Amino acid sequence: MKVAVCSAQSYDRQFLSDANRDSGHELAFFDSHLCQETRQMVAGFPAVCAFVNDTLDAPVLEALAGQGTRLIALRCAGFNNVDISAAGRFGLRVVRVPAYSPYSVAEHTVALMLALNRYLHQAYNRVRNGNFALQGLLGFELRGKTAGIIGTGHIGSAVAQILHGFGCRLMAHDPQPSVDCISLGVEYVPLEQLYAGSDIITLHCPLNPQTHHLIDAAAIARMKRGVMLINTSRGAVIDTRAVIEGLKASRIGYLGLDVYEQEGDLFFRDLSDQVRQDDVFERLLTFPNVVITGHQGFFTAEALASIARTTLQNVSLFEREGLCQNEVTVELVRGG
Ligand code: NAI
Repeated sequence: MKVAVCSAQSYDRQFLSDANRDSGHELAFFDSHLCQETRQMVAGFPAVCAFVNDTLDAPVLEALAGQGTRLIALRCAGFNNVDISAAGRFGLRVVRVPAYSPYSVAEHTVALMLALNRYLHQAYNRVRNGNFALQGLLGFELRGKTAGIIGTGHIGSAVAQILHGFGCRLMAHDPQPSVDCISLGVEYVPLEQLYAGSDIITLHCPLNPQTHHLIDAAAIARMKRGVMLINTSRGAVIDTRAVIEGLKASRIGYLGLDVYEQEGDLFFRDLSDQVRQDDVFERLLTFPNVVITGHQGFFTAEALASIARTTLQNVSLFEREGLCQNEVTVELVRGG
């Protein structure tokens, strides 16, 4: 099948081309994001392979359907950038990679926690500058601390397992509690209780209308003073401006982000020689207790190989049998 791969980076070319040796699809790689302005580039491709920051809103989907596309194959788990009901209206099927290596994101989440609680980001620079003073680097131990996990699906459960190994007490909030987490001793509690009782709060729920700006000023006001907040899910689960106020007031003691609400204008490219225009993001970078990575939680060799394999299997099944494994339906969106 002819597949247009949008937002293609060198590693996408490498891993998809390798996996395609078993699948035999005709892959065409496009550097550009998919959006209204670039939709022409994928004209005539029955399958379009998109990533997290490609825009698949109703106008783009209508245009794609009109120019011959039948399948949107997301090479990611999240699908908040796709208007699923519009896709259905225009006869487009949408598939995704629901699980690849949850450990990729889970381990990155814990890496952010460990960088923050021992100030590794600062220590790295100090030592390189010949500054071996310890003032300002006083850490805390994870053992015995309470971690609150919001969303215990594939990634949240893997985080729970790792933090259990560190000796943390674990609380969680999820409308669908995980049996594995319960047997690990995770206590499911209402959000209020999680906010009030957690030393570390880590977000692993999808972005949907219920979770949009879940972490806002009111939520932050209910958290323990000095809480560590980690977001590796989707940027808009937190209200960034409210979090900045929380940092300024020392209500938030540590912030680790792998995702950002307006990341579509920033991430996955080198802007080091440009004047960056996002003042909210730049403000975040001024805090000594903030570590930000550019949506790299998924970025391990194991995860990329698995994503490429599943993406091409999704396309093959659709081509061969007209079936969609791993389909994103309106029911799935409603169910969160
Ligand atoms: P999953 O679908 O396995 O788990 C999500 C969990 O969140 C489910 O158990 C669900 O019941 C729960 N949930 C839904 N609404 C909720 C709410 N209002 N409050 C609390 N929990 C709620 O998804 P998975 O694979 O664990 O991924 C989680 C999120 O991580 C994805 O939706 C995606 O946004 C993000 N992600 C980030 C990556 C990165 O590179 N930083 C890579 C992959 C995913």
